[in-house]
Amino acid sequence: DDPEKLAAFQARIDAGEKIEPKDWMPEGYRKTLIRQIGQHAHSEIVGQLPEGNWITRAPTLERKQILLAKVQDEAGHGLYLYCAAETLGVSRDELTEMLLSGKMKYSSIFSYPTLTWADMGAVGWLVDGAAIMNQVPLQRTSFGPYSRAMIRICKEESFHQRQGYDIMMKMASGTPEQKRMAQDALNRFWYPSLMMFGPSDKDSVHSSQSMAWKIKMNTNDELRQKFVDQTVPQAEYLGLTVPDPDLKWNDETGHYDFSEPDWTEFFEVLSGNGPCSAERLEARNKAWDDGAWVREGMLAHAEKKRALKTA
Ligand code: 3HC
Repeated sequence: DDPEKLAAFQARIDAGEKIEPKDWMPEGYRKTLIRQIGQHAHSEIVGQLPEGNWITRAPTLERKQILLAKVQDEAGHGLYLYCAAETLGVSRDELTEMLLSGKMKYSSIFSYPTLTWADMGAVGWLVDGAAIMNQVPLQRTSFGPYSRAMIRICKEESFHQRQGYDIMMKMASGTPEQKRMAQDALNRFWYPSLMMFGPSDKDSVHSSQSMAWKIKMNTNDELRQKFVDQTVPQAEYLGLTVPDPDLKWNDETGHYDFSEPDWTEFFEVLSGNGPCSAERLEARNKAWDDGAWVREGMLAHAEKKRALKTA
């Protein structure tokens, strides 16, 4: 890229200006936005599967309605984000093809199973809690369409987190068996939720450039720490124990000291070997194949309408 153009572009970023799709941008900026927004969208779409698993098994009609609304929101978030990515010159079909072939990722958290109803509480409380921690700063990201998508998405995320915490409150103060299920869900979702923030800063290949371009507003470790500081008191309020014997408040730093996730497991999940990775991609491939007739019908219909117009 032309050094003068690069300098002018960086000055716009530093001045807090929004970059719009038709503006000049360095190829690297476009590329990493397609990567991050595309994978963010894939996470929303694949993220519906673990929860979808419990819609037919919800314990009450009200919980079924709430879970349905949440899963529907996730689908909408995916569509907003694919639209934002399309403004960068990549089609939704191309992005979907890269997800289905394993060339593009989705958030590691969704490669874990949801085994009991309490997991619906832990997912809303911890997974959506972590997503909020990561998405709120992204409302100020430099790329206009991504920032606007984030502003809309964040409005719905707090409902997602509250309904999850409400399930945890109900179960943690319920029968001993319910409390045991809530503790079991926390035990299984705690470390995978910490992994959502990405590898530790020393292993983060994109952070420095992404922060210079305001595609990322905080480092991975910063947001992970914020998440732990906010979530531990919530676990204590529930009377549940965070599964980390080394977790303890540090008066000097004003933060909790905590054990990092197992990074070997993290990178295993990223290479597609998570507990449910194969199942998730199979489900998405099946949905794509089963939906082919709808796409073909819609395209044929659009073609006919176009032909009528020009006749
Ligand atoms: N799962 C899968 N891949 C991950 C990951 C995770 N938890 N954390 C990091 N990675 C990948 C990165 O994508 C990158 O691989 P790539 O080059 O093939 O894309 C590699 O690990 C190195 O990580 P970096 O820290 O260098 O990468 P980033 O700077 O992109 O940081 C991120 C990772 C923090 C996830 C950042 O991409 C981001 O903020 N993305 C937008 C938010 C997002 O995608 N959140 C995912 C959850 S969305 C969700 O939960 C929906 C909610 O409604 C439930």
